[in-house]
Amino acid sequence: MSAPVLEADDLTRHYEVRRGFLSGKATVKALAGASFSLAPGKTLAVVGESGCGKSTLARLVTQIERPTAGRLTIDGRDVTQAGAAELKEIRKVVQIVFQDPFGSLNPRKKVGAILEEPLVINTRMSAAERAERAREMMAKVGLRPEHYNRYPHMFSGGQRQRIAIARALMLQPRILVADEPVSALDVSIQAQVLNLLMDLQEEFNLAYLFISHDLSVVRHLCDEVMVMYLGRPVEQGSRDAIFERPAHPYTRALLASTPAVDPQRRHKRTALKGELPSPLDPPPGCAFHRRCPHATEACSRELPELRAFDGRQVACHHAEKIAEPAAAPA
Ligand SMILES: Nc1ncnc2c1ncn2[C@@H]1O[C@H](COP(=O)(O)OP(=O)(O)OP(=O)(O)O)[C@@H](O)[C@H]1O
Ligand code: SF4
Ligand SMILES: [Mg+2]
Repeated sequence: MSAPVLEADDLTRHYEVRRGFLSGKATVKALAGASFSLAPGKTLAVVGESGCGKSTLARLVTQIERPTAGRLTIDGRDVTQAGAAELKEIRKVVQIVFQDPFGSLNPRKKVGAILEEPLVINTRMSAAERAERAREMMAKVGLRPEHYNRYPHMFSGGQRQRIAIARALMLQPRILVADEPVSALDVSIQAQVLNLLMDLQEEFNLAYLFISHDLSVVRHLCDEVMVMYLGRPVEQGSRDAIFERPAHPYTRALLASTPAVDPQRRHKRTALKGELPSPLDPPPGCAFHRRCPHATEACSRELPELRAFDGRQVACHHAEKIAEPAAAPA
C-alpha cells in the first residue's frame, strides 16, 4: 500500500461567535478532532447531516482556513508548520470542487480562460502550452473542443460541474476534495458525474476526500467512510464495515433513512428521529443521546471516545450490545 498523501491527526477547528444581541461570545466546535489518512487512488467519504463539520474539514484540508489545533500532513509536509513558500507548494497538491456549479465559475470568463487561470497564476507555461493543456483536460472530462470559447451560463449544471472538475485538475493535484459535488444536480446526471470522477481517479491516481450528506451517493465510490455528528467522527472504517455492519446508532439511522442504499435490507433499523441539537449548545455526554434508541444514563454523562471495535473505529458506549448479529437469514 502506498504512503498516505493526506494525514490528519486530531484536526480541530473552533469558531468564536456571538450568541445574541446581549449575550456574550460562544465557541462552536465545528470540528472537534478528526484523525484519518488517505492514500493515492483511494477515496475517503465524509458523511453526516447539515452542520456536522464536513465543509469545515474541507476548508482545512484545502487550506482555505487554518486549524485551531491538531496536525495536517499533505504529501509528507506538515501544513501546520509550513512557511509561506512551502504553503504555496502544498496548495497546488490539493484542489476542491464545490457543490454549486453555478456560483463557482466566473460568469464573465470563457471556459478556456477559466481552465487556464490556475496555470497563469502558478506556472510559467506559454499561452500556447496553457491552451493545449486546457483542451486536453476538456477532452478528459467529456467537454467538446468548441466549448473552449463558451461562457459558463451556456452549460447545464452537469456540464458546469465538468468544467469545475477540469479546472481543479489543471495543476495536476494529488488530492481532490469534492464537497457535495453532485448534490445540486439532477439524479439522472449525478451518476454520470460520479462515473467521471471514478475514471479520473484511476487515470491520475487521485486521492479523494468525498463529502456528502447522502450515503447512497458514496457507496459505490468510497474505500473508507467517516461518519460525523456535531463536529465529531462517530464511526470510521472500511466501506464494507460501515455499510454491511454499521455499529454506531447514528450510522444505522443514516442508513435507514437512505432507502436507496439497500431497499431489501433484512435488518430492522430505526429511522433518524428528533432534531439535530444546536452546535452552540451541544448535549453533554454523547451528543447523539437525545435521538438514540439505545441511550442509557451513562450516555448523557460521558463522552464516548472513538475506539477500535469490530474492524473499525466507533464512538459509542454500547457498541458491543447494539452490534447486529452476522447477517442471519430472514
Ligand atoms: N465561519 C464560521 N463562523 C461560525 N460558525 C461557523 C463558521 N463556519 C461554519 N460554522 C459552524 O460550524 C458548524 C459546521 O459547519 P459546516 O459548514 O462545516 O457543516 P457541513 O457539515 O458542511 O454542513 P452542510 O451539510 O450544511 O454543508 C456549523 O454549526 C456551522 O454553523
Ligand atoms: S453512546 Fe449511548 S447515546 Fe451515544 S450512540 Fe452510543 S448508545 Fe447511543
Ligand atoms: Mg457543507
